[in-house]
Amino acid sequence: MDYKITTYSEEETIELAQNFESEKFPNMIICLRGDLGSGKTVFTKGFAQAMGVKEEITSPTFNIIKEYNSGDMPLYHMDVYRLDGKAEELGIEEYFTKDGITIIEWADMIEEYLPEDRLDIKFKHSTEDEDKRIITITPYGYEYEELCEAVL
Ligand SMILES: Nc1ncnc2c1ncn2[C@@H]1O[C@H](COP(=O)(O)OP(=O)(O)O)[C@@H](O)[C@H]1O
Ligand SMILES: [Mg+2]
Repeated sequence: MDYKITTYSEEETIELAQNFESEKFPNMIICLRGDLGSGKTVFTKGFAQAMGVKEEITSPTFNIIKEYNSGDMPLYHMDVYRLDGKAEELGIEEYFTKDGITIIEWADMIEEYLPEDRLDIKFKHSTEDEDKRIITITPYGYEYEELCEAVL
């Protein structure tokens, strides 16, 4: 089942991320999809802040993976837009079994590597309003279905 949510500001997207953070569990995987500027990094920042991550979250476009250890549990933030087929070289799949939270921007670029159980969040710009985002949330697997029921 898909959940559809509309946010009308960056703050509302941050609030959504905070709500998910409040129900986080080790080894949680969040796959973010959507065009440039649609809100993927905003969501990640909101989630990271709620976890207590002290460092500033910057888009890891060129590093691909950034690890933050100052929060409640490790946060692995990936932006796989420029991965160029190096998923295996970088050991992307190893992160999916680590005890932290993994958030992947542009997850559609590594579709074949994504674990079966995960949370997918798709951001879409609206043509009516510059600050409006239509967000589609799809849980895969029991844990993520429970998560959505608790949060949404
Ligand atoms: N409803 C909204 N949700 C998230 N971001 C929004 C929203 N409305 C406007 N914005 C703006 O859109 C931009 C989203 O940027 P960013 O999160 O870096 O995008 P992405 O990581 O998807 O490329 C930010 O400048 C943010 O202020
Ligand atoms: Mg981004």
